[in-house]
Order: sequence, then structure tokens, then C-alpha cells
Amino acid sequence: MKLQLLGGLTVRQFLRDYWHKQPLLVRNAIPGFNGLLSPAEMMELACRDTVESRLVCQAKNWSLDHGPFRSTDFKKLPKQNWTLLVQSLDHHLTSGAALLEQFTFIPRARLDDLMVSYAVPGGGVGPHFDSYDVFLLQGKGHRRWRISAQENLDLVENLPLKILSHFESETEFVLGPGDMLYLPPKYAHDGIAEDDCMTYSIGFRAPSFQELGEGFLNFLHDELELPGRYADPDLVLQKHSGEIPRAMLEQIAENLDRIRWDEDTTAAFVGRYFSEPKPDVFFSPPAKPLSEKVFMARLTKHGFKPDVKSRLLFSGTQFFINGEDFGATGAERKALMQLADTRTLPPANYGNALAGLFYECYLAGWGDIA
Ligand code: SIN
Ligand code: CO
Repeated sequence: MKLQLLGGLTVRQFLRDYWHKQPLLVRNAIPGFNGLLSPAEMMELACRDTVESRLVCQAKNWSLDHGPFRSTDFKKLPKQNWTLLVQSLDHHLTSGAALLEQFTFIPRARLDDLMVSYAVPGGGVGPHFDSYDVFLLQGKGHRRWRISAQENLDLVENLPLKILSHFESETEFVLGPGDMLYLPPKYAHDGIAEDDCMTYSIGFRAPSFQELGEGFLNFLHDELELPGRYADPDLVLQKHSGEIPRAMLEQIAENLDRIRWDEDTTAAFVGRYFSEPKPDVFFSPPAKPLSEKVFMARLTKHGFKPDVKSRLLFSGTQFFINGEDFGATGAERKALMQLADTRTLPPANYGNALAGLFYECYLAGWGDIA
């Protein structure tokens, strides 16, 4: 199916020709799109301590301040050359979560968050590159994007943000409301506001293998079970008392070699890792929870939906929600697959085991009756 969002390409064509390969400019990607919130509403979000926000000012040689801000902070700003950024808009606005849903032609495990920026004329975060792919969707106002496939990605030293030391724009375009630019990882870019402008960035997760390796070792550590204890009943007198006995090394190596993993272990790690909410994410359990009986009756009548902050993934018969895993087969597996794909479950009798699981999620604030 051809998608307007991808400039009339099918997802297959986009993945084959553009994803990770080259930029794509789409005029009128979302017709009529003019943004999800006003600058005032965004500033209000940036004043909350549950919201990750940043303020970048060029005038002071690329200064960077982190939120939460006070509303008076914004009154002191000049008329030009600054930008405010708010992360995880998909957690704070249902319309933000709905916008991200339009990008689920990329696996959810790869989706990161929806960021919004508000910039006054001349404002931007400077010429830089990102380590992950990004769709830059223009809301209100206009932004001039200058982009470059340059290989020199050296950064200016001693700045609080990543600014390319040599940026040579190769192409530029001005994006208006509803236009979108896709950029592959490490593609140099610089977006400067032409007027009061708001840009929505759909970002992806691409952890480094070092990060993944460290996470995997932590995961193995939590799962580790190595029974037995070092023993040396056959100990013999050795020449150097300071030398580690060879038999000791062999016995330990043999036992460490019992630390094994297979495809299921890797899937369990990947599922937990990628469904783990970021450390600043907090769920709100219901203040006066329904009894299990009432919950089950409502579930049958109305269905279930996860909270916008909940992350749901699966691999085969292993399911992951917010860093926890469980197995499911048959009809339960089918229902959970539907929930992970569509993030909603229609009214039905889901049986005691699944309904019990949804009740636990409900009590943790991870989901609710639809
Ligand atoms: C912005 O919206 O100003 C920054 C987005 C980006 O360049 O990745
Ligand atoms: Co960028």
C-alpha cells in the first residue's frame, strides 16, 4: 500500500531505498497537520518535574539548560535564536502517542520517543548528527533544514551540546506544516527556524553493542545459578605458595564454562531490555482500585488498553511488558500478540489467567479498562 506519509512510497520501497540509506523529503506527509500543542502548552510541560526538557540558546555560545523550568525563565529570553525541547511527548499527550502509532511500520522495539521543539526565528540546536534514524515532522511555522552526507563528523570541543566543527550544507529545504524529512543515522543536519516554529521528531533506539553487552551481563547475573563450591581434596604441596595452583584455574574455568545461553536467553534479554521503561518513567496506580471481580466484568464488557507509557513486545511465546516477561500459548498468545501490535484488546472473555494478568497490570498503573 502506498503511503502519503512516505510520499507515495510503500513501506517496502521506503525500507529498501531510504531507511538507513538516504534522506527523504515528503511534502504534505500529514495533510492539515499543524502540531499537537501550542508553545504555551509546551512551556507548561517544560515546567513539570516529570517531563524531560532542555533549552538551547545560541546567543550565549550554545548554552544548554535542563528543565524543569519556571514560567518566568521563558519571559527573560530574547526574541531570536533559542529553542526549547521536550522529550517523550507520546507519554504526556494521547495525541502524541497516536502520532507515534503512524510509524509502527518500524518495529516497536526500535521506536524511541516523540520529541517536540519550539524555536523562535533563528533558533535551532546547531549543525549536528544523530546516531539513530529520525523523522522530522514540521508542525506550526517553518524550518529551514540544511543537510549533508559529509564524512567529517568532528565536533567542536568543550561545548555542552554536539556541534559539528565543519558543516558544509549540500542541500536545503524549507519545511512547512505537515512536511516531513527522514534522515538516516549520522547524516549531518541543521534546522533553523524561519519564524515561530515547532518540529516533531520521531526518534529510534539504537543502543551501542557495548551498552547491550553490559545489559546482557547484568541480565545473566540476575539469572545466574551455579551450584557447588570450590574444593581441593587432592591438594598437593607446591613449590611456590604464592602461585595460583593450575588445578584451581582448571576447576574454576570448568565451572564458569557452565554459564551458557541460547536463543531463548537472548530473546528474554532483548525483550526485557527493550520493553524496560526509561528510568524517569513513573506509572500512576489507581487511587481506589476496582475489585478483581468488578475489573473482570468490565474487561469482558469493554476490553483493555495499556497505558501510553507501557512498552509491550513479544518474541515467539515470550511476552514482555515494562521489563517483565511471561510465556503464553494458544488463545492467550493470540490475544497478547494483538495487544502488543494494536495496543488495544476488544471486549471478550479472556479467561482467568489472562484476566488476572491484566488485573495485575491495572493495579501497577500499566493499563486500564478500554
Ligand atoms: C529540533 O527539532 O530542533 C532538533 C531536531 C533534530 O535535529 O534532530
Ligand atoms: Co538531529
